[in-house]
Amino acid sequence: MPATCVVGLQWGDEAKGKITDLLGDGFEYVVRYNGGANAGHTIVWGDRTFKLSLLPTGVLKPHVTSVIGNGLVVNPVRFIEEVDQLTKAGVSVGKNLVLSDHAHVIFPYHMEEERLAEAESGDGKIGTTGRGIGPCYQDKVGRRHAIRVGELLNAEHLRLRLRQIVPIKNRMLKAMHDSAKQFDADTLAEEYLGYAKHLAPHVGDTVQLLHTALKQNKNMLFEAAQGSLLDVDHGTYPYVTSSSSLPSGIWAGSGVPSRNVGRIIGVVKAYTTRVGGGPFPTELNNDTGERIRKIGREYGTVTGRPRRVGWFDAVAVRYTAALAGADEISVMLLDVLSGLPEVKLCTHYECDGQRVDHFPSDAHALERCTPVYETLAGWNENLTGIRTYAELPAAARNYVERIRELVELPIFVVSVGPDRAQTIPVGN
Ligand code: IMP
Repeated sequence: MPATCVVGLQWGDEAKGKITDLLGDGFEYVVRYNGGANAGHTIVWGDRTFKLSLLPTGVLKPHVTSVIGNGLVVNPVRFIEEVDQLTKAGVSVGKNLVLSDHAHVIFPYHMEEERLAEAESGDGKIGTTGRGIGPCYQDKVGRRHAIRVGELLNAEHLRLRLRQIVPIKNRMLKAMHDSAKQFDADTLAEEYLGYAKHLAPHVGDTVQLLHTALKQNKNMLFEAAQGSLLDVDHGTYPYVTSSSSLPSGIWAGSGVPSRNVGRIIGVVKAYTTRVGGGPFPTELNNDTGERIRKIGREYGTVTGRPRRVGWFDAVAVRYTAALAGADEISVMLLDVLSGLPEVKLCTHYECDGQRVDHFPSDAHALERCTPVYETLAGWNENLTGIRTYAELPAAARNYVERIRELVELPIFVVSVGPDRAQTIPVGN
């Protein structure tokens, strides 16, 4: 049975969780393959709301095996907090949550390094979530100072490794800034050995687990974290996250070959948002942007930062849809645009006097681009109660049709509110 991947095609926060939820209870495995506790997602379950940033959304369903793949960087404190949050709410999280022994571990010196690096970056700040994601991936790739989850389970080994690593980290941090925090290897080791006791029942060889599941023809869902424009290779580098958020990350980050993924659903907002620094050609620094931010409640789930808001950028989404190999797209938060006299879609850019149809992922080239818009009539009707495509006001339908034409992909659903019921299937 081919697997499915749900992936955001903008800069994250596209409401991917709702699409995952809509796909229903048919999945036996729900797998994360990239990132860490930088991926805030709110899950509404009955009358309860859970705020997770590390665990896959599948954890709420007892029949689902939720997998944190080898491609993630894991802060054990967050892992324990999120499991506790669920346990207290009566959700049993046991053997059905499996954490790869090859995932990498985030330590407090990663957070400190990130804090100092951001503080000294001035205007070039990435605007990270501050969760130590980048420095931990740096250590992973650098190999010498990295610690994998599996290593937490061997006390003597962990103590030795931290005695090697921590003095180097302390020197490096001090060189970054005199005021840098310093760490004690043995104290850290004992702290992390304490966490390891909580993690241990979940730690396993997730590659073997997933390969066995594939042989048994199990139905799998891959949850991409962040958005495709934050992908470390193809996003607006250096204003990106440090992992492969595109479905290309599945193979490396979980061990499941891409050829097993048969359906890729790209998720977009009916407009665009971005948190943190970096170019954003269609950004709206005006009342319209403020209105969309307010109505769309565009504030970061992890950091609470106001999200930057702009018009839908078809150049960017054509680029990411092609990179992701998206079969279809879902258009979220269409209801937020109600009440605007007109709505705009960016069809192409102008850069140094030339027409540009292809997204320049180089942040510096992108900064020189100005968006060229097509202006469409807005609509006043409240869309949140509408349940069929035919009932949508003509102007809203026209807007969705233009997105379909510009992105050149069929539309799976249009979403007009957070509730599962506030979803409109679109016949293509
Ligand atoms: P990092 O992932 O914390 O290193 O942050 C790098 C960039 O990615 C920053 O601009 C963050 O705001 C952004 N980012 C990371 N995770 C998310 C997410 O889940 N949604 C939206 N933006 C994110």
